[in-house]
Amino acid sequence: MFVLGLQGSPRKGGNTDILLSAFLEEAERLSAVTHTVNAAAEGVTPCLGCGTCEKKGYCPIDDTMQEIYFLMRRADIIVMATPIYFYGPTAQIKALIDRTQALWARSSIHKLADPGSRRRKGILLAVGATKGKKLFEGTTASARYFFHAAGAKLSGSITVRQVDKAGAINSRPDSLDEARKLAVELVLPYLAGKKILFICKGNSCRSQMAGAFTRLYHGDVFEVETAGTNPESKIDPIMEEVMREKGIDMAWLRPKSIEDALASLGRPPDMIISMGCGDQCPHYQGVEFEDWRLPDPAGKSIDFMREIRDSIFEKVHEMGHW
Ligand SMILES: Cc1cc2nc3c(=O)[nH]c(=O)nc-3n(C[C@H](O)[C@H](O)[C@H](O)COP(=O)(O)O)c2cc1C
Repeated sequence: MFVLGLQGSPRKGGNTDILLSAFLEEAERLSAVTHTVNAAAEGVTPCLGCGTCEKKGYCPIDDTMQEIYFLMRRADIIVMATPIYFYGPTAQIKALIDRTQALWARSSIHKLADPGSRRRKGILLAVGATKGKKLFEGTTASARYFFHAAGAKLSGSITVRQVDKAGAINSRPDSLDEARKLAVELVLPYLAGKKILFICKGNSCRSQMAGAFTRLYHGDVFEVETAGTNPESKIDPIMEEVMREKGIDMAWLRPKSIEDALASLGRPPDMIISMGCGDQCPHYQGVEFEDWRLPDPAGKSIDFMREIRDSIFEKVHEMGHW
């Protein structure tokens, strides 16, 4: 499973950073794969309000946010961590929040379902200097709507008052312990799920469709990864189109090798489902193996792509937990 931390303080090694690290280190100890985006270092361009995402479903600003969209779509848990600046989140993380309007537009205007949203959760970590009763209200409301746009639900928060100087939070072990405890509570249920790795040749059509259907319909019980024995450089645009016909959003998915998929899972899969990768399909001792023997639709007609999509849909349906 993958936990993404979004660190909103420009003060590296400050209170937010320390609190977020406590959460992420505990998640890693439990075998989650983690990644931190330091919003201040990334320099995300603020939203221009141009309306392109609402009309076309993508953000035309070509900056580091394009990679952050990819990471957010991959995440099972997104942790938004920020100090309070004038009763709200910092400008650096607010720029990132506003740019998720592109994700909101894809789901709410273009009616495309993000396959990962079935299992994605959002957590808020926030720190402030004063003891004001309403100190975290504005940031909590921003976090709630940010997570909604990112296909997640605000599922917990830790807010720490009266920490000001960098590192002051180190003298609040109760808060750091709370962050570790929350990480355990959130991560453990994910680890209990069965891990399935779908493999085809290019990881641009069949295994991507299988992965998306399984995440969307069984994401609460299965952890899913996909890979190719010979991964293509990008997913197939015809595959994206036929999945869009079914209301499923394949944006920001990328083909990957079997090694990368295994690293992304963090632990060996319980089951490998081959889409017909033939002799090159890996077999591991103790890992269940099934072959769906589906022909490769890459380079064939759109009708053939639809046929393969529907066959995969049926097979995923038969997996149960519908
Ligand atoms: C520009 C600015 C605005 C701030 N506004 C508030 C505020 O409204 N309320 C508050 O309690 N603390 C405020 N603070 C204090 C920070 O929230 C506090 O120092 C925090 O611990 C910083 O976290 P960090 O070490 O992760 O950067 C502000 C600090 C700065 C620099």
